[in-house]
Amino acid sequence: MLCYNGLGDLMKYHELLQTAKSLLNEQPSTLSLLSNATAFINDMIPDLNWVGFYLYDGESLQVGPFQGHVACSTIPLGKGVCGEAAIKNKTIVIPDVLVHTNHIACDTNSRSEVVVPLYLAHKLYGVLDMDSPSFNRFNDTLVRFLEEFAEIIIKQLTNHTL
Ligand code: SME
Repeated sequence: MLCYNGLGDLMKYHELLQTAKSLLNEQPSTLSLLSNATAFINDMIPDLNWVGFYLYDGESLQVGPFQGHVACSTIPLGKGVCGEAAIKNKTIVIPDVLVHTNHIACDTNSRSEVVVPLYLAHKLYGVLDMDSPSFNRFNDTLVRFLEEFAEIIIKQLTNHTL
């Protein structure tokens, strides 16, 4: 049976990816690329309270461009959802952060979270982290969209040197 909401979401996400490709292709620097990427997600995806990057400096993750309240500056590898996604090189979806022990509570409004790792040429670059005030905000379709969005960023990053 067709799920029309699901189909509507798929079409919306497909269009958003096309727009994101154009927008991110026009960014003159890594900083503008990452900054506008967070603004785009914040504008286009409802019900988020934080979206941003943590960037790997060779030792730990450091907060990068983001939209939302003040956040933790440094996250050790393996710590929190960000640190876990970074070392596992795997998207991690947390439907309820209140029952996930390896979660760093930067914003007490957060209820669910998704973290997509960014690897460039098999090397950890950082993570894209999104929080929502709603329980179980990140369904499979949205997660797939965010992973494809992250792939566009990775492709653009390979064209930038900073
Ligand atoms: N909750 C994250 C920390 C970053 S904030 O959400 C902005 C984590 O557990 O890694």
